[in-house]
Amino acid sequence: MKILMASSEAVPFAKTGGLADAVSALSIALAKLGHEVKIAIPRYYNVDREPLTKLEGEMGVPVGGFEEWCAVYYTNMPGSPTKNPVEVFFIDHEIFFGRDGIYGTPSEPDFIDNPRRFTFFSRAVFQLCHKIRWFPDVVHAHDWPSALVPVYLKYALRNGPFEKTVSVLTIHNLGYQGVYHKDNFHYTGLGWNVFYEGGFEDWNMLNLLKAGIYSADRLNTVSETYCEETKQQAGGFRLDGPLRYRSANYRGILNGVDTDVWNPQKDSYIPKPFSAGELSGKAAAKAELQKFFGLAQDPDVPVIGMITRLTGQKGVGELFGPGYGSAYSICRDMNINFVVLGSGEAWCEHELQSLSSRLSNFRAVIGYKEELSHLIEAGSDFFLMPSRYEPCGLNQMYSLIYGTPPIVRRTGGLVDTVQNYDEATGGGTGFMFDDLTPQAIYNTVGWAVWAYYNRKEHIDAMRKRGMQHDFSWEKSAKKYVDMYKDAGVKKSAAQKTAAAIAPDSAPKKKTAEKRPSKK
Ligand code: ADP
Ligand code: GLC
Repeated sequence: MKILMASSEAVPFAKTGGLADAVSALSIALAKLGHEVKIAIPRYYNVDREPLTKLEGEMGVPVGGFEEWCAVYYTNMPGSPTKNPVEVFFIDHEIFFGRDGIYGTPSEPDFIDNPRRFTFFSRAVFQLCHKIRWFPDVVHAHDWPSALVPVYLKYALRNGPFEKTVSVLTIHNLGYQGVYHKDNFHYTGLGWNVFYEGGFEDWNMLNLLKAGIYSADRLNTVSETYCEETKQQAGGFRLDGPLRYRSANYRGILNGVDTDVWNPQKDSYIPKPFSAGELSGKAAAKAELQKFFGLAQDPDVPVIGMITRLTGQKGVGELFGPGYGSAYSICRDMNINFVVLGSGEAWCEHELQSLSSRLSNFRAVIGYKEELSHLIEAGSDFFLMPSRYEPCGLNQMYSLIYGTPPIVRRTGGLVDTVQNYDEATGGGTGFMFDDLTPQAIYNTVGWAVWAYYNRKEHIDAMRKRGMQHDFSWEKSAKKYVDMYKDAGVKKSAAQKTAAAIAPDSAPKKKTAEKRPSKK
């Protein structure tokens, strides 16, 4: 199949979270299965044009009654198969994307022109196909920034070269929907009837993700449990209704792990490789981690690790909220080390620094550090992820395959990837709790620490069990292919039926032949 991914992020070019990992790894996995995959992303300021190849000429993109002009660059995706590489196309528009930040900057977290930037990008995706004379079987959009791709396909481009193309929208995080003033709708160039029919309207505002949900031929999110949660009021972020409405064509497909990057047997960021059968490298990683953070290199004290965006979704209020969160009492009461790598909300960054200065066994690094994130996964004994909600979550999967049992809240993708510890049998792969409260986090960390000191054989078995998991992308990529095929079959059947009941849209020749001659 010919598959075009449209995304605002893709590693190694642009990343704020797991979306970037998922888009690139899924594309590579699909190419390895033999499909022809291309990715379209904006050319942000930090993407150097130098190593890229420029497509000849400029590209005009019709938006809001006029044209925006841009350039297009491309390159092969690193890590994709040499015989069937994934090509990445960069939409280069200086005014929209030639600035620091993907969606915003610390002083302007959501750029005021974001609705225009990503409307333009979504429309440009189709112009790109014309420019390279390549028309996909599937356009696959991700999250609100490319949610207009299925909308354009349905309302503006359904005939001509995209007649057989189907659209898929993957929701990586329902908490972000792209809600803006409805005046921005003009810029789409679509008729106002589409504002209502196409599902843009949201309490008199413009909701880009909602429109995508109404228009895509198929929808999915990144785990089965999260798929169910999003159809309920508590987890639906006000879009549970539209998602229930689309439920026949909405499913959950768990993300995988890019095992070329996250693999303890060949990870170049850790001191020594290790596997379930040979764990000495894990002990070496723990010593290195304790050294890096200036902690005593004691192999017997459990290290609890955490790598996260510092935002409410990740449970940081209950863990680090000043005078409220449980991190302080966990470190005060338990014989552990606690290390955190993260960046995000300013209050939380300050609190992490404050805890580091008040507690001898707590250390934090503020920032985004790829290399250190590998050492934390490898060197920790437990990985903490008390998420308020979690569509899939990648870090708990990384920690499982690095022999680091996760301590997680029972929500979303965490339910689908972690099995709770059973004290009676020693079964399970991690520790789970239900309520997002400081007390529940405290108790569950305490439970894991108790098992570490008192049920060592259970912890060893849990580590090994976690390391056996097959989180390869191939399994998930096959499910995406099934979804693409199903959408294609249904679309062509629907087109045939439409042609049969509307003779005007059937091939002209036949109808003309049947008509009696006027003479
Ligand atoms: P989300 O996308 O909601 O942030 P995921 O668990 O799906 O959560 O993915 C987060 C990704 O970002 C992982 O690859 C994780 O290692 C990485 N990450 C998050 N914060 C940092 C950081 N401060 N430094 C390095 N990597 C980080
Ligand atoms: C989102 C979600 C995360 C998921 C990632 C990739 O950022 O918060 O749970 O793993 O997308 O799909």
